[in-house]
Amino acid sequence: MKNRVSTLIPVKKVANSRIDQVDFNNLTFGSEFTDHMFVCDHKDGQWQSPKIVPYGDMSISPSARVFHYGQAVFEGMKAYKDDEGSVWLFRPDENFKRINRSSVRMAIPEFPEEFFFEGMKTLLKLDNDWIKKGVGNTLYIRPVVFATQASVLASPANTYRFMIICSPAQAYYGGEVRVKIAEHYSRSASGGFGYAKAAGNYAGQFYPTELAKQEGFNQVIWTDAKEHEYIEEAGTMNVFFRIGDTLITAPTSDRILDGVTRKSVITVAEDMGISVEVRPVTVSEIVEAAREGSLLEIFGSGTAAVINPIVGFGYKGEQFELPKLADSYATMFKEKIVNIQYNLADDPYGWRYPVGS
Ligand code: COI
Repeated sequence: MKNRVSTLIPVKKVANSRIDQVDFNNLTFGSEFTDHMFVCDHKDGQWQSPKIVPYGDMSISPSARVFHYGQAVFEGMKAYKDDEGSVWLFRPDENFKRINRSSVRMAIPEFPEEFFFEGMKTLLKLDNDWIKKGVGNTLYIRPVVFATQASVLASPANTYRFMIICSPAQAYYGGEVRVKIAEHYSRSASGGFGYAKAAGNYAGQFYPTELAKQEGFNQVIWTDAKEHEYIEEAGTMNVFFRIGDTLITAPTSDRILDGVTRKSVITVAEDMGISVEVRPVTVSEIVEAAREGSLLEIFGSGTAAVINPIVGFGYKGEQFELPKLADSYATMFKEKIVNIQYNLADDPYGWRYPVGS
């Protein structure tokens, strides 16, 4: 397989690596990129031969449809290096399926599975030195596909570019995370594309999230667009609530991202014998549980954020603080999942995917 890949995907290597210019102990999420990137164009009705080239600026028409209509989707994945130097992905098949589900919704042609996996493996082997050992060190992988056709006609493009770029990363959130429960703005609506990892789903959150930041929050927990009564997800994470000993999260729908970490948490929790309820969660039950003291935890899950405890939330001008628990579910689930990701524990689910060393 290895030989076939190198003949299948031509590689143009950088003359000089930039790795020595990077301070791996002081990374700002998503701001440093590895030496190489994977590129594959779609034209004449099909995906052309992919290639790997030095990471760098590229030329694209000012009338490319992605700039005008936001026809773009992406994925978030991570590579982990174990103590022996082997590199692993976590459930990459889920990301592959999801990027194509997202593409279908945004009228973008689906990407071939072989290109996705072989391209990623070849890229990770090439930029292997950028993946550092040690829990917390990861290489964040960003597959992205966007419309390149030079035309502002408002219809699906006839040319696209699929790319994979990689960024060494540590924690997504530096400190304590506080959220505001949305009362006015919404992230998505039924029949829309909230479930897709579409670029515009994120851009639409920036303004309300900035407003929430001015009030001292880090993120918004989105509620349903109709009544703002049901909890949906946070900006970069799915959300879980622990009321008493029960773990509760909203079901996925056409409005909510089907998070890979989310579904892994549900599986791990059920296997640990924890009572899990996947059902519509109302804002009023969360506020009520916080008032009476039975709301013990809120945490978010996502590839970038992993599992991030939320220390408090705001709703209609009122602030609610969560207790600090010695035996939090968030810590337990994070440990279980991280141990699988870094090859520190058995993987009974077959979630770990070997890339090599
Ligand atoms: C991820 O968790 O990978 C995400 O897509 C969040 C991202 C917007 C940083």
